[in-house]
Amino acid sequence: MGRFDEVYRAAQADPEAFWAAAAEEIHWVRSWDRVLDDSNPPYYRWFAGGQMNTCYNAVDRHVENGRGDQAAVIYDSPVTETIRTLTYAELQDQVARFAGALATRGVTKGDRVIIYMPMIPEAAVAMLACARLGAIHSVVFGGFAANELATRIDDATPKAIVSASCGIEVKRVIAYKPLLDAAIEMASHKPEICIVAQRPQAVAELTAGRDESWEEAMSAAEPHGPVPVAATDPLYILYTSGTTGQPKGIVRDNGGHAVALKWTMKNIYNIEPGELFWSASDVGWVVGHSYIIYAPLLHGATTLIYEGKPVGTPDPGAFWRVISQHKAVSLFTAPTAFRAIRQQDPEGEHIGNYDLSHFRALFLAGERCDPDTLTWAEEKLKVPVIDHWWQTETGWSIAANCLGIEQLPVKAGSPTRPVPGWDLQVLDAEGHAVPAGTIGALAGKLPLPPGTFPTLWNAQERYFNSYLANFPGYYETGDAGIIDEDGYVHVMARTDDIINVAGHRLSTGAMEEVLAAHPDVAECAVIGVTDTLKGQLPVGFVVLKAGASNAAVTDEVVTMVRQRIGPVAAFKTAAVVQRLPKTRSGKILRATMRKIADGEEFKPPATIDDPAILDEIKDTLAGIGYPKAG
Ligand code: COA
Ligand code: AMP
Repeated sequence: MGRFDEVYRAAQADPEAFWAAAAEEIHWVRSWDRVLDDSNPPYYRWFAGGQMNTCYNAVDRHVENGRGDQAAVIYDSPVTETIRTLTYAELQDQVARFAGALATRGVTKGDRVIIYMPMIPEAAVAMLACARLGAIHSVVFGGFAANELATRIDDATPKAIVSASCGIEVKRVIAYKPLLDAAIEMASHKPEICIVAQRPQAVAELTAGRDESWEEAMSAAEPHGPVPVAATDPLYILYTSGTTGQPKGIVRDNGGHAVALKWTMKNIYNIEPGELFWSASDVGWVVGHSYIIYAPLLHGATTLIYEGKPVGTPDPGAFWRVISQHKAVSLFTAPTAFRAIRQQDPEGEHIGNYDLSHFRALFLAGERCDPDTLTWAEEKLKVPVIDHWWQTETGWSIAANCLGIEQLPVKAGSPTRPVPGWDLQVLDAEGHAVPAGTIGALAGKLPLPPGTFPTLWNAQERYFNSYLANFPGYYETGDAGIIDEDGYVHVMARTDDIINVAGHRLSTGAMEEVLAAHPDVAECAVIGVTDTLKGQLPVGFVVLKAGASNAAVTDEVVTMVRQRIGPVAAFKTAAVVQRLPKTRSGKILRATMRKIADGEEFKPPATIDDPAILDEIKDTLAGIGYPKAG
């Protein structure tokens, strides 16, 4: 039996012993009463009764253990031509003082703090300061519109919001403050205080009585120590797309999260404390939470906050420049970033301009990794390229090639095998496990390992109904796929209306809600079509109300989605149709429309109401360039 099988079996045979051993790597103020509290199935809690502080484990502990002078965070910003290093001691000082600033403004354990910031070190400081106080942060990605921010403000009801005056998208300066003001205006809940980091590219006007600058708040702040919290207390809420416009507030606890993430750094990523691990994502996504902030810091590694893109800042050699300049031993990004690089530098010529001799592995996640991209990256970088599969809900990998345990052979198109702690099954519609190689719903047998989400914020019933109800005893991932004869997982498609655009998770249902709000639109459908760069792109279809004629409607709905969801939705294409294809019971045939758009073989379902409508859809799609050639 190989080493991976041994570890996997140990975790299956005695999960409590396995995770209790991993928990030795974390500093506890009080040890747990039970490793796994299974007294209330299907709800489980890890390290019940234990007390600790995530920020202490991620920062102070390393200073106490002699890492004070080691770089904790390197900020590399090609868009502002800045490189800045924060050692662990400097990070501790900033985090303690920002925690003090929040505390004197009334933020205490259990309060929520929304963080709406670009990729600047202050975002990390703000997150860790919340963790230090036991306050619950909720980071909102900068590419979301004011309306999305307002929805999150109303759901999380934060006491404070921490933001910045602007973000920089390549060369475009995006003022954040007007978006923040508009969101607060729209929301019913009003935060008591906003702290805004002022950036020279666009200094924000502050609202007297509510807003303060980061710089001012920090200058007068007294350091605040870490507050012990229960292992089961929430560390953060991270909103992710559900099937409606109301996003799901994924809750992460403190104890299980710290234990699991620390474990992954060595076992999955094969990183040693002191090494530089670079995750080129954004703090607004789960990858950013787990692998820009918490895991590398819990491990005593160095992390990198990169305010730039894979291309255009300034060229497709940007990633290689960063890896070589800061001696990153591994990079974690989304396949779409590699497709963008390859599009501009097909031969990978820029790679040759840099010394990457220290670079050991590339990790890809966020969307399915197409074999073409995987092979290109392997050939050009000459290091293992590891696809791994996970979700905002799980906080870390469900399936991966655990480089720190044993490197298994790579199969292109597969994120390898379920990681220790995950009992993954493929289920049919009735919830029965299917034979190897058969497609079905990918589901994790409960209890899930530590670090996965114990609930949705203020929505326990939705948690149950969305994830646990369909297959009793299992967590339904929402992904469909197969497990093959070698135990390798193949993730094929979502079972709901979630699409994946440039590694970003978006709900077509939420976009349909926006289209439906247009006064001339009677009904609509949004589908995700295949895109060679971004993986998928949304395309909308609208049917106008009887008597309505509006030549500008497609432009108008495009603008509405940008204004209400945000530029990140990348919703740029809509078409008017006379009717939408439906079943006799009125269900819109989105899957059939998607197949037509992608040029796939399709058979209209037997229940289709009027097959002739499909011809109109085909013509409409042809008119807007689908299916794409090649
Ligand atoms: N603030 C404001 N706007 C933002 C933003 C932010 N933080 N992030 C993205 N946007 C905007 C972009 O400027 C773009 O606007 P546009 O429509 O005016 O051009 C739009 O949102 C779409 O952004 P994006 O999907 O990033 O597309 P892009 O064309 O700018 O870049 C890639 C394409 C592939 C280079 C880019 O998506 C990328 O680097 N992806 C990496 C994936 C990743 O980090 N995934 C996270 C999970 S691991
Ligand atoms: P998010 O919650 O934004 O991380 O998105 C999670 C979803 O992205 C998953 O449910 C999958 O649909 C998709 N996904 C993430 N990683 C992979 C991967 N390695 N292979 C296939 N799909 C993936």
